[in-house]
Amino acid sequence: MQGKTAIITGGGSGFGQGTAVKLAEKGANICVVDISEKNGNKTVELCQQVGGEAIFVQADVSKLEDVKRYVNETMARFGKIDMFFNNAGISGSGVRTLDCSEEEFDAIVNVNLKGAFYGLKYVVNEMLKTGGGSVVNTASLGGVVGMPTLGVYSATKHAIIGLTKTIAGEYGRDNIRINAIAPGTNETPMVKAFPAEAIKAMAEGVPMGRLGQPHEVANVVAFLLSDEASYIHGSVISIDGGSAAL
Ligand SMILES: NC(=O)c1ccc[n+]([C@@H]2O[C@H](COP(=O)([O-])OP(=O)(O)OC[C@H]3O[C@@H](n4cnc5c(N)ncnc54)[C@H](O)[C@@H]3O)[C@@H](O)[C@H]2O)c1
Repeated sequence: MQGKTAIITGGGSGFGQGTAVKLAEKGANICVVDISEKNGNKTVELCQQVGGEAIFVQADVSKLEDVKRYVNETMARFGKIDMFFNNAGISGSGVRTLDCSEEEFDAIVNVNLKGAFYGLKYVVNEMLKTGGGSVVNTASLGGVVGMPTLGVYSATKHAIIGLTKTIAGEYGRDNIRINAIAPGTNETPMVKAFPAEAIKAMAEGVPMGRLGQPHEVANVVAFLLSDEASYIHGSVISIDGGSAAL
């Protein structure tokens, strides 16, 4: 990955941060995109500590102008986008699905679906101009099975899989590989915010009897983004300790 450039949305925390550092270790230049300035700058620092070159662009992925800006700033600094981890997402307040308010519905759909769509629209367009690239979209276990109390979240993640498969069909001949990951419950800040009993119950429900760790997702994302995965396209890779199997 020496000299290649990656954009990572939601790069300030969890899977995004883990993947940013992993790619930086492998020599990639990183554009960390996050709504949180503090988190984003922290990731840049971590990338620099392992010898990588990194910039932070503060952006809300659900806003078109912000998406254009993170793409333009990456092009201005690094001249090319080889890899895109389209990952920023939010979950939900955990109410029974049909009790989800209009505001919460809009917020989840705007970040998880519209944000991912805008990212694909503008990043893939740049990849087309420079000869190709690879993309990993973050879906979820909730994108392949239902997720009680997180129904809107689950719907957006099913949608990510639909987008991934469809766009894979449309851009494969342009040397652009597009895949999705479907992580099960992992101990990232998003999940650590849940009550302790809920976290324990989640771990007990996993065939491997434990939650995942962000580096276990970052390892797979780094592989999918790399040339090692050169014939994997339009796939949804579960990283869930066996959860989707049952
Ligand atoms: N943690 C899990 O168990 C789990 C499981 C399956 C899928 N996921 C998905 O993985 C992705 C990353 O989750 P995580 O657990 O690393 O979460 P996280 O909360 O640790 O990190 C998400 C990052 O996204 C940023 N973000 C949120 N809204 C944004 C916006 N509008 N614009 C830009 N940045 C924004 C946050 O500031 C944060 O830094 C999400 O799409 C999530 O749905 C997580």
